[in-house]
Amino acid sequence: MTMEPRRILLTVTGGIAAYKVPELVRQLQREGHEVRCAITSAAARFVAPLSLQVLTGATVRQDLFDPSEEGEIDHIRLADWADLVIVAPATANVLGRMSHGLAEDLVGAVLLATQAPILVAPAMNVNMWNHPATQANLELLHAREVNFVGPGVGELACGWEGEGRMAEPEQIVAQVRVLLGSKSLVGETFLITAGGTSEPIDAVRSITNRSSGKMGFALAEAAVSRGAKVCLVAGVTALPTPAGVERVDVESALEMRDVVLAKLGSASIVIKAAAVADFRPEVREEKKIKKESLDPQAGLTLRLVENPDILAEISASKGSRLVVGFAAESEDVVQSALRKIKKKGCDLLVANDISRADAGFNVDTNSVYLVTPDGEVEEIPLLSKREIAAQILDRVEKLRNEKPC
Ligand SMILES: Cc1cc2nc3c(=O)[nH]c(=O)nc-3n(C[C@H](O)[C@H](O)[C@H](O)COP(=O)(O)O)c2cc1C
Repeated sequence: MTMEPRRILLTVTGGIAAYKVPELVRQLQREGHEVRCAITSAAARFVAPLSLQVLTGATVRQDLFDPSEEGEIDHIRLADWADLVIVAPATANVLGRMSHGLAEDLVGAVLLATQAPILVAPAMNVNMWNHPATQANLELLHAREVNFVGPGVGELACGWEGEGRMAEPEQIVAQVRVLLGSKSLVGETFLITAGGTSEPIDAVRSITNRSSGKMGFALAEAAVSRGAKVCLVAGVTALPTPAGVERVDVESALEMRDVVLAKLGSASIVIKAAAVADFRPEVREEKKIKKESLDPQAGLTLRLVENPDILAEISASKGSRLVVGFAAESEDVVQSALRKIKKKGCDLLVANDISRADAGFNVDTNSVYLVTPDGEVEEIPLLSKREIAAQILDRVEKLRNEKPC
């Protein structure tokens, strides 16, 4: 079940971060949503209404008292039309107007009139953000269950550094998924592992693999968007934490095992998407191994010892918990996966064909087989990892209905 297309009203206020709004519109449209824009007169100084009109294919509403604009779709109908209202960027000024219910302009009036959830992406100078007036306004809005994304910390357009950067369009879109998601996994707690592990050789060297973590992160994001609580145990990966996810970073397989076992008690569904090294160097040298200390003829011999099989270990005592494993196969994918699921004892095995250039490790797409212990095999053709994640979760929901907690 990928997300239903919805109607999103994007209200834009007068901050420099408005330059990111056309990109945000595009990303929301790529998710299938219908987007309309309403902007303040200050916002029109930062982003061209014509650009937004061309991108959305709809009149950009700005003036509450313009008879032609108000005649086409009046501000109350616009407020009613939306399934979700986004305020991005949200100025200090609009936070003040929202918190006090001021409706002297079109954006203020729509924000007061709408019954849809509101998502606010603040953007301002760090001192404006930290000002007690802004903080008091935020407190009022939080108490009214207005949703927020960001702001982030970093270099600000005004030259200051600190909190106040508008969340990136991808982060806003991720939060939209959370707000508009199906909520079909409310009450479930996921423990998801992702990324490769790094097995230390000495103080600076390690053995790792090419896993990017993208599949596990897409699963975490999808589970949150369906209302689940998610703990993501991340190995080696450069990916940002999906909104609403608790993340624990680890390096080696042994560390991953420790964290997984510590978190297992609260998990109702475990998905082991990490590429955990089967072997690690038997000895980890405390200092960097010096080249000069080695005999050039003999080279360096590493003895590798087997890592614990975390998937088999947690499957052995899973009880009512659902356990989903991943397998990376380069030949005879389905037969290997059928053998593996018997050996591991999990409820579902997702098998990647890593011999394909467009699937498996370190790419944005994947094509997998879903294999069950009774020998059922379903092929999911090449799709984005986000779409694959949605299909895996559909299957998990089906299994959960067959095997309730
Ligand atoms: C160059 C420039 C950049 C601005 N950037 C911001 C900003 O990032 N955040 C903010 O809260 N206000 C910013 N302001 C101030 C707002 O534009 C001003 O408070 C305005 O009244 C906001 O109106 P609105 O909330 O109706 O859009 C900026 C002003 C200027 C001149």
